[in-house]
Amino acid sequence: MRAGYGGLPVLHGISLIAPAGRITVLVGANGAGKTTLLKTLAGVMPPVSGEVRVDGEALSGGTPADRVRRGMALVPEGRHLFPDMSVRENLELGGYLASRQQREAMLDEVAHIFPRLGERLTQMAGTMSGGEQQMLAIGRALVSRPRLLLLDEPSLGLAPKMVDEMFAALRRINKAGTTLLLVEQNVFQALAVADFAYILGHGEMIAEGAAWELRGNELIRRVYLGEAIAG
Ligand SMILES: Nc1ncnc2c1ncn2[C@@H]1O[C@H](COP(=O)(O)OP(=O)(O)OP(=O)(O)O)[C@@H](O)[C@H]1O
Ligand SMILES: [Mg+2]
Repeated sequence: MRAGYGGLPVLHGISLIAPAGRITVLVGANGAGKTTLLKTLAGVMPPVSGEVRVDGEALSGGTPADRVRRGMALVPEGRHLFPDMSVRENLELGGYLASRQQREAMLDEVAHIFPRLGERLTQMAGTMSGGEQQMLAIGRALVSRPRLLLLDEPSLGLAPKMVDEMFAALRRINKAGTTLLLVEQNVFQALAVADFAYILGHGEMIAEGAAWELRGNELIRRVYLGEAIAG
């Protein structure tokens, strides 16, 4: 796939597979094009060329809502919550394509995955802590019952304890059957929960493979995981 903004190329012919039922992580430097890739997958912007396939079937064109109908949901960078609306109202927005009954069932499920949200359904979203707001952004995406959840840096700006909680929640969501494609800066933790990993350089994939394999790759550790070069 190729993608860019107004004739400016960002992604130059990349290919990525997120196998069903698994966690795939995409890491890479700032400006590499990770967000651009997720936005293209979610239908927020069209690819310049190439296609997005779900279960082998190509999705041509289509709005983000069409992609939600096909089982995709994006948790965008920066959350995009409605701060003056309650937790419940924010969650309900995630289920705007679902029936009322389905939506209520999903709200119960989200409250089970994130008990803190269940306890605070009437609280204004803007008064939640950063970590709680990130849980809410994920919860809102889950209400649409995605089979594939795309997450853009969910641990950004969170304290270490919240980061741990976030990764634990992502594991639970995956165990319950949702495929995850995760963009992360917390590379070690992301590789620890993931099955597969891709490393994006500037617009091109520079490595891909089993997550455990990339964790052990010397060059990757030095260059992309920021480890000090010994000696
Ligand atoms: N709306 C836009 N218009 C023009 N250029 C853009 C736009 N959004 C992103 N870009 C450019 O595309 C390139 C890739 O950006 P992108 O946000 O995809 O990177 P990223 O890998 O998500 O980086 P980060 O780790 O900082 O979030 C950057 O050079 C960026 O300046
Ligand atoms: Mg980004």
